[in-house]
Amino acid sequence: MNEVCGTTSEELAAGGVGGGVGLTALLVAAARAIETRRGDSLARDVYAEHFVRAAPACDGWPVRIEEVPDGDENALWGRFARYFGLRTRVLDDFVVRSVLTGARQVVLLGAGLDTRAFRLDWPSDCVFFEVDRAGVLAFKHQVLAGLSAAPKVKRVPIPVDLRDDWVTALTASGFDPAAPSIWLAEGLLFYLPGPAETYLVDTVDLLATEGSALAFEAKLEADLMAYRDSAIYTATREQIGIDLLGLFDPGPRPDSAGRLAARGWSASTHTPFEFTRRHGRGPLPEPNDALEGNRWVFAYRRRT
Ligand SMILES: C[S@@+](CC[C@H](N)C(=O)[O-])C[C@H]1O[C@@H](n2cnc3c(N)ncnc32)[C@H](O)[C@@H]1O
Repeated sequence: MNEVCGTTSEELAAGGVGGGVGLTALLVAAARAIETRRGDSLARDVYAEHFVRAAPACDGWPVRIEEVPDGDENALWGRFARYFGLRTRVLDDFVVRSVLTGARQVVLLGAGLDTRAFRLDWPSDCVFFEVDRAGVLAFKHQVLAGLSAAPKVKRVPIPVDLRDDWVTALTASGFDPAAPSIWLAEGLLFYLPGPAETYLVDTVDLLATEGSALAFEAKLEADLMAYRDSAIYTATREQIGIDLLGLFDPGPRPDSAGRLAARGWSASTHTPFEFTRRHGRGPLPEPNDALEGNRWVFAYRRRT
């Protein structure tokens, strides 16, 4: 048991990632653990399985596909986990590419158990700002500290709720709006109420100078409940007790890509399946598909 300041990782897990939307960070970590151990992995995250093992809520969860009796046929640990593996790889590539163009500030919105600051190589003057709720970041810190893991760049955790005034917290932590920045909202926006998403996008637009980039995941379905019986949602509910549709905000979604485009950003919207074809592995469309409306948006504020 890892213990810092008298609080165990089990206690932190219960407060931050033990339930509700925080638990979804562990779902993604388990998926990354499985992806990491695949012979044809698209992304490697050696820390992911440690988060899963440290959290009592993950008792019995697999960290490699061989531990899943029906293997890749399993809608949750096969197809859905592969989806997260693909998403991780595509967004890894996005951040690496964006850093190469000169931006040095990376803001992970809803960072969860993202370990990009630890597992990828970055220029030494990069800084990662990780925004999530306090309990999630405390659990992450506890597990990584227990592994003596050291980030490869400066890393600034920002414990704040994205429905509150996160801008003050970010700028008070050293974020410089005058310098280009890279923003990620991976697996986040559909948990937020529509107005909080619009505030987030407008704020990124305000804080991101020329040379900045933003990638986010959106869900376009007009009626999410139409997919309630899809294999992915059913398996996630029945096997690990996470009702994603109960966690997603039920209100209408804003058109964030269109909003950015109207403000001069160049935004392109892609299905995950495009990247499955590009990489030769990942999920493909299927009937009654919970992934049908998922889109990955890449937006750039070009230098003039
Ligand atoms: C599905 S996880 C994704 C985590 C990470 N981006 C990744 O892909 O591994 C969603 C994350 O969003 C965070 N989140 C959801 N709503 C939030 C809010 N209102 N404020 C801050 N974080 C939030 C959760 O705590 C969780 O860590």
